[in-house]
Amino acid sequence: MEEKRILEIIKLAQQAKEHAYAPYSGFRVGACIAAKNGRLYTGCNIENASYGATVCAERTAVFKAISEGENEFEAIALASDATRFILPCGICRQVLSEFSLNILVISSANSNEYKIFSLEELLPGAFSGEDLEL
Ligand code: THU
Repeated sequence: MEEKRILEIIKLAQQAKEHAYAPYSGFRVGACIAAKNGRLYTGCNIENASYGATVCAERTAVFKAISEGENEFEAIALASDATRFILPCGICRQVLSEFSLNILVISSANSNEYKIFSLEELLPGAFSGEDLEL
């Protein structure tokens, strides 16, 4: 993926973070997933007073994309207010792995700095649909 495109999706993830509903943790996260056809879908974390009902930014973005008919993805960018690089939680890694282990995960710090990982690096030995075959 070209640097210009990477910076574009990071920027959209940063903008999506502004919509985060995070009154309990105060930790705002934004995500932007790029479908292979070039369309982009953003998401933010949405917390709930029943904490377990909280959904992460990455899953908001991927579920929005799936519900719009996408299922082939190239990359997902993440943004938070932290100065550290953050990576998707285990549940989000698993959800993304359903669609491909080649998805690039672009983690941005609170600036234009970023690091890129493949989902395969982040979720080695992923459980998949093939494992359901008896
Ligand atoms: N969160 C995300 O949205 N994405 C991640 O990758 C990690 C955690 C959210 C969930 C919760 O609203 C807050 O961050 C603190 O865990």
